[in-house]
Amino acid sequence: MTFTAVEIIIAKRDRGALSTAQIDWVIDAYTRGEVADEQMSALAMAILLNGMDRREIAEWTQAMIRTGERMDWSHLDRPTADKHSTGGVGDKITLPLAPLVAACGAYVPQLSGRGLGHTGGTLDKLESIPGWRASLSNDEMLDVLRSAGAVVCAAGTGLAPADKKLYALRDVTGTVESIPLIASSIMSKKIAEGTGSLVLDVKVGSGAFMKNVGDARELAETMVALGADAGVRTVALLTAMDRPLGRAIGNALEVEESVEVLSGGGPSDVVELTVRLAREMLEAAGIAAAKDPADALKDGSAMDRWRAMISAQGGDPDATLPRAGESTEITAPASGVLARLDALAVGIAAWRLGAGRARKEDPVSFGAGITLHAKPGDIVRQGQPLMTLHADETARFDRALEALEGGYVVAEASDPALLPLVIDKITPAGA
Ligand code: URA
Repeated sequence: MTFTAVEIIIAKRDRGALSTAQIDWVIDAYTRGEVADEQMSALAMAILLNGMDRREIAEWTQAMIRTGERMDWSHLDRPTADKHSTGGVGDKITLPLAPLVAACGAYVPQLSGRGLGHTGGTLDKLESIPGWRASLSNDEMLDVLRSAGAVVCAAGTGLAPADKKLYALRDVTGTVESIPLIASSIMSKKIAEGTGSLVLDVKVGSGAFMKNVGDARELAETMVALGADAGVRTVALLTAMDRPLGRAIGNALEVEESVEVLSGGGPSDVVELTVRLAREMLEAAGIAAAKDPADALKDGSAMDRWRAMISAQGGDPDATLPRAGESTEITAPASGVLARLDALAVGIAAWRLGAGRARKEDPVSFGAGITLHAKPGDIVRQGQPLMTLHADETARFDRALEALEGGYVVAEASDPALLPLVIDKITPAGA
């Protein structure tokens, strides 16, 4: 059945529900170039303003999956488990988590992306390790998965090409922030990736897509339902992104912190979230692990998997990581408690220091970023260093310092509005 793009745009503009045939046609025709970018951007804006119901979102997701290949790991001798984070500042959890879950008995095939804007991308972080290669063929991906138990690599162009095209369009048309479009975008890639189970880490707060718990819950429920409909055992955690995660923000700095976690140390919030997500992944994969993830961080087995995973992709796990040549410190303006450290302000500052990119073709500075010396709730003395800013050129400091103005507050007491690290767990309806 064929339609015209205009009638579909008008149907959604007038708050109608799109039929299965309309959805299948428009996604396919857009991917083939028959529906023009300006028409798809009008439709994306109509969806952002008027929404889609559960049936439409599920069919939109399946239509995007059908535009590309679907990977299949069901021939492997162990269950597969994956995690997806909606993105945050200092969120390096994939790095220790993938080898940790592999050490506890699952295969972890993870396709990741590069960062755009103030949140960093997992591939940018791993690329700060000399020699490490993000692009693998499907056969190479399988080899790394078999030998190391976990593989983190770039999603090829073959998975959900409709989403690749549509996401780039949304990015330049103010249509990213639509729950149906975000949910279908993320889940089309994750379902096409072929994982048997999936744990979603939906971030909430200033440094996240979702600024409040209500929106994050709606996104999480939508994605969990999409996973369940597609036969992927899916759960979601809502977790705090009102302040940065851990003490390191920036590519090589975050790799260093991840290695600390894999060595049995590291900041308590990163360790807590890594262990919690690992337990959720093992449960979703149906694995009664012989070893608790907290023990696998202490006994070196997760570290062994990390080293195998990095080496298998050409990286040197013992190499010295790049460092930025210049640094400057911010000190506490008064004595008291660090009541607030805003994730968005820190993320923008790290981005301006060179850790992130403004356009997808820009390079990142591997050494740039921020080291935090205090976290919200810590007692600080006037003049004590709160954070160190790292950059390749001193010229970057002024704009980064500007981003941090008002982004940290020293007060007499902690801020009671600070979110708990894990806010809630969302399971499929009826589970
Ligand atoms: N990440 C995605 O992959 N898609 C979105 O729409 C938003 C975040």
